[in-house]
Amino acid sequence: MEKREWKMGKILKILSLVLVSLALVFGTGIEVDAKKKKKKIELTEAENAMFDKWEVKPKKRAKSVKIMRKKPKFVGAVKCNGSCHDPYYQAWVKSPHGDTFSLLKPGARKEAKERVKQDPEKDYTTTPLCLRCHTTGYGQRGGFKPAGSKNKKGKDTSTKIDPEEPNKEQVGCEMCHSVAGGSQFRAVMKASKGNFVKAETEQYGQRWDYANVCTRCHTHKNTPFLPEVHDKYKFNFEERKLKVHQIAEYWNEDNMDQKLEKKDDRAKEVGQTEKTPLVIEDFKINDKGKIKFKKGTKPYNSKKKIFNYK
Ligand code: HEC
Ligand code: HEC
Ligand code: HEC
Repeated sequence: MEKREWKMGKILKILSLVLVSLALVFGTGIEVDAKKKKKKIELTEAENAMFDKWEVKPKKRAKSVKIMRKKPKFVGAVKCNGSCHDPYYQAWVKSPHGDTFSLLKPGARKEAKERVKQDPEKDYTTTPLCLRCHTTGYGQRGGFKPAGSKNKKGKDTSTKIDPEEPNKEQVGCEMCHSVAGGSQFRAVMKASKGNFVKAETEQYGQRWDYANVCTRCHTHKNTPFLPEVHDKYKFNFEERKLKVHQIAEYWNEDNMDQKLEKKDDRAKEVGQTEKTPLVIEDFKINDKGKIKFKKGTKPYNSKKKIFNYK
């Protein structure tokens, strides 16, 4: 009997030693909790006032504000579909901007390519110059990455393309609606349930200077498809605008709740970007094949957090 108890005692001692050393190696978890607590996000007065106005529950604020405070990045058109702007997405897929990537493939639009001395048999789907205007956010945070893209460790980082679900490989929503990607104002839109004014989303990188934003590509000095080459490349904004969002036929019972209640109110506002349009990027492709934006021509400087107006 006694011997047995002695044995049990020894086993217990050894066990506790093992536990102590395990705790030393892997930590107790107490420390981790403390770290988590430290990271708790404190909202500013201005942020809270905005959320008050949108009637966002206090518990849900930190999650939105976390994204809103991060640097903007491109998220892709698919993120706008599926519960918020379905008719816009569906119409866009069928619109000229929902199928811009295929123009870079061999054999596409031979005549047009020959006219501007491009090689109609060449595959341009990885050519940086073309990608800037035919895809979403190329060369920028979160933007499209062509086939063959790798990180420093040699891992494939190219953007997956799903023919059934057009996304960053086309000229998506963010190329017309944002300064550097829609990640932040998407959070604003979701939190506010559409009840925002222009200034609120502008602060997070949405732009409303529509006539100006088209010239990021149309009539830009880097596009070969200029009016001098063919009349059809003349750019009349009012006429062209009508083809961008032909959403009328895409409304149905399931998405009726996505109608923008505040759209007409917003149309009466004049956003800062409408008063003073943002600068248009001047860019070139350097010797290493990287896209370089000329200093001061980016609409948003994410290091200094400033917008550049014309
Ligand atoms: C600065 C922006 C820009 C760059 C760079 C650019 N494109 Fe385009 N591309 C456009 C725009 C804008 C249009 C539409 C013009 C229009 O219809 O008015 C277009 C149209 C086209 C068309 C269709 C023309 C037609 O008449 O059917 C082809 C093909 C094309 N681009 C291929 C290319 C290729 C290949 C490259 C790279 C070598 C390239 N693009 C570079 C902006 C650009
Ligand atoms: C080629 C540029 C362009 C692209 C790409 C584009 N839009 Fe637009 N969008 C516009 C213009 C211009 C307007 C204003 C005129 C209009 O309503 O037709 C607009 C208006 C809107 C509005 C109404 C905003 C308001 O409150 O008045 C919504 C919502 C919208 N776009 C969503 C989207 C979504 C979602 C996508 C992508 C699936 C997208 N847009 C892609 C140019 C674009
Ligand atoms: C990121 C580059 C880019 C931006 C920004 C852009 N476009 Fe385009 N757009 C293109 C390309 C590329 C095409 C060629 C599509 C094709 O020929 O199939 C095109 C084609 C079009 C067409 C079809 C031309 C036709 O009649 O066949 C219309 C209309 C148009 N754009 C309107 C606009 C308007 C309006 C804006 C601004 C609100 C705008 N685009 C902004 C790249 C752009």
